[in-house]
Amino acid sequence: MHPTPRPFKDYQDEIYLDGLRGVVPEYPMTYAGWEARAHAAMPPSVVSYVAGGAGDERTQDANVTAFERWGLIPRMLVGAAERDLSVDLFGMTLPSPLFMAPIGVLGICTQDGHGDVATARAAARTGVPMIASTLSADPMEEVAAEFGGTPGFFQLYTPTDRALAESLVRRAEKSGFKGIVVTLDTWITGWRPRDLVTSNFPQLRGHCLANYTSDPVFRAQLPADPEHDMQSAVLKWVQVFGNPLTWDDLPWLRSLTSLPLIVKGLCHPEDVRRARDGGVDGIYCSNHGGRQANGGLPALDVLPAVVEAAEGLPVLFDSGVRSGADIVKAVALGATAVGVGRPYAYGLGMGGAAGVTHVLRSLLAEADLLMAVDGYPTLADLTREALQRVQ
Ligand SMILES: Cc1cc2nc3c(=O)[nH]c(=O)nc-3n(C[C@H](O)[C@H](O)[C@H](O)COP(=O)(O)O)c2cc1C
Repeated sequence: MHPTPRPFKDYQDEIYLDGLRGVVPEYPMTYAGWEARAHAAMPPSVVSYVAGGAGDERTQDANVTAFERWGLIPRMLVGAAERDLSVDLFGMTLPSPLFMAPIGVLGICTQDGHGDVATARAAARTGVPMIASTLSADPMEEVAAEFGGTPGFFQLYTPTDRALAESLVRRAEKSGFKGIVVTLDTWITGWRPRDLVTSNFPQLRGHCLANYTSDPVFRAQLPADPEHDMQSAVLKWVQVFGNPLTWDDLPWLRSLTSLPLIVKGLCHPEDVRRARDGGVDGIYCSNHGGRQANGGLPALDVLPAVVEAAEGLPVLFDSGVRSGADIVKAVALGATAVGVGRPYAYGLGMGGAAGVTHVLRSLLAEADLLMAVDGYPTLADLTREALQRVQ
């Protein structure tokens, strides 16, 4: 059982009651506030890496503005006194559709360098699952140990070395992760001017490679222990990191695990159909928050066609979600579960596990209150008909 009291709107009551004894919230209440606070707290190189996207960042910005083009139509006299935001996913019941998308630099978003573990603690506190990235400052075993009763997922960047891929997946299984998310859109890094202008790429400086340097298959290929010779480890990492997979590799990926297999980065219905035919358990519709390819469509705009092509397979969605209202809209457009990236990374930057917890509880309280006010008591009530295009 997760410890967060339901309903999610109770966070609002807590904040107003605290006000009666003179206490105002420690953290801002909107995305813009989290962003500003975190930008002030994090080192400039981390800010540029987290905030930046591909090219002139139009796709990244369009991910966000796409939500403004949809409005939820209020329904009255529904009596939505109790809301049910729970979701059945891969045989588990989650308290809400919200999850934390994988972020490869969580470790360096906190001053103590252990942002992955702090995020896992926030997952335990809120019941919001974390998808832990391959790129982390602490090994996946230490991250998973902090999940409490909340399920966690492991995101695999498939290395060129198949034995290493297998080792990472075996470790994830042993650590108790409940699914494997294979990211397909990042076998090569997109063109990111904000990072290029300062020649800033954290992994090349040895950051967030703990899953590699703790891996027996990876270590066996190094001339010396990475504790003494990190440069060799980084060079090896560059060689093995990105695997330009093709559809011919899908059977092998499928064979890696009997855990639910989810493929991340799908935006085209034809790709969704092929993935489905290849036996994946879930489709993850995302354009990587606009960090990989500029000149694309907002992820929200491709979601309905992805959902249709998924033919009932769960569809996870992220890219541009900034509020509880955005979560509600993504569900209404067919998402089974909705992820945030930068919002919780900024929570981490401004307050570690407490900051992430605040961000997640704020998003959920807003979504819950929106469903109450607008008369949509369950996620099943949130259909395409609940939305209207803004003129
Ligand atoms: C700083 C940063 C690092 C990321 N690292 C990873 C990663 O390691 N693996 C991955 O699959 N996606 C990664 N992503 C993409 C996120 O999982 C997610 O798709 C994206 O952040 C969603 O968009 P949003 O930031 O607009 O919410 C990263 C995103 C950011 C902002």
